[in-house]
Amino acid sequence: MSRSVPPALRPFLPADTPILAAIFAAAIEELTGDDYSEAQQEAWAAVADDEAAFGKKLASELTLIATLQNAPVGFASLKGKDHIDMLYVHPSAAGQGVASALLDALEKLAGARGAKNLTVDASDNAQEFFKKRGYVAKQRNSVTVNGEWLANTTMQKTLEGGGQP
Ligand SMILES: CC(C)(COP(=O)(O)OP(=O)(O)OC[C@H]1O[C@@H](n2cnc3c(N)ncnc32)[C@H](O)[C@@H]1OP(=O)(O)O)[C@@H](O)C(=O)NCCC(=O)NCCS
Repeated sequence: MSRSVPPALRPFLPADTPILAAIFAAAIEELTGDDYSEAQQEAWAAVADDEAAFGKKLASELTLIATLQNAPVGFASLKGKDHIDMLYVHPSAAGQGVASALLDALEKLAGARGAKNLTVDASDNAQEFFKKRGYVAKQRNSVTVNGEWLANTTMQKTLEGGGQP
């Protein structure tokens, strides 16, 4: 796996909404099929169909965008000071460390906001990814998304030096 070209990171701008909606849908459609049914994937991906609402959600959180050669390939968002809400990478850029770079940056920002612990409701396909990065499973959840039940796992990581100014 080549990681010679790390992604660049920048803050979200409202004009990014359509491309992030497309990354969101493609990531779900192509990267989650081992763990979720087609009906579940469709319901989950449909969350971004209302682009105005999706953009509003991205703007209300601390959303970072990862780019490769100036093109957005992934994004992640921090809700409040200590919850990772979204982490999605386009299938064409998967396995190149894009999500890792986004997560590292969000962990630093959470620490800067005074968080001691960081939580994420990890999808089943992302659970191993978070486990490798020090997140510990705390509880299983079932959530309804557009009429479908989807399972996820609340995971938590204690930040080194978290809460320090
Ligand atoms: C999970 C996701 C964000 C990972 O993005 P990515 O950019 O490919 O991840 P990275 O390249 O930074 O890291 C890949 C690492 O995690 C591991 N990994 C990634 N997905 C994995 C999976 N499904 N199962 C096991 N390991 C996985 C890789 O083996 C690799 O390990 P390494 O660091 O030892 O090399 C991406 O697959 C995705 O968008 N999934 C669909 C949406 C989703 O479920 N998001 C999470 C919501 S909480």
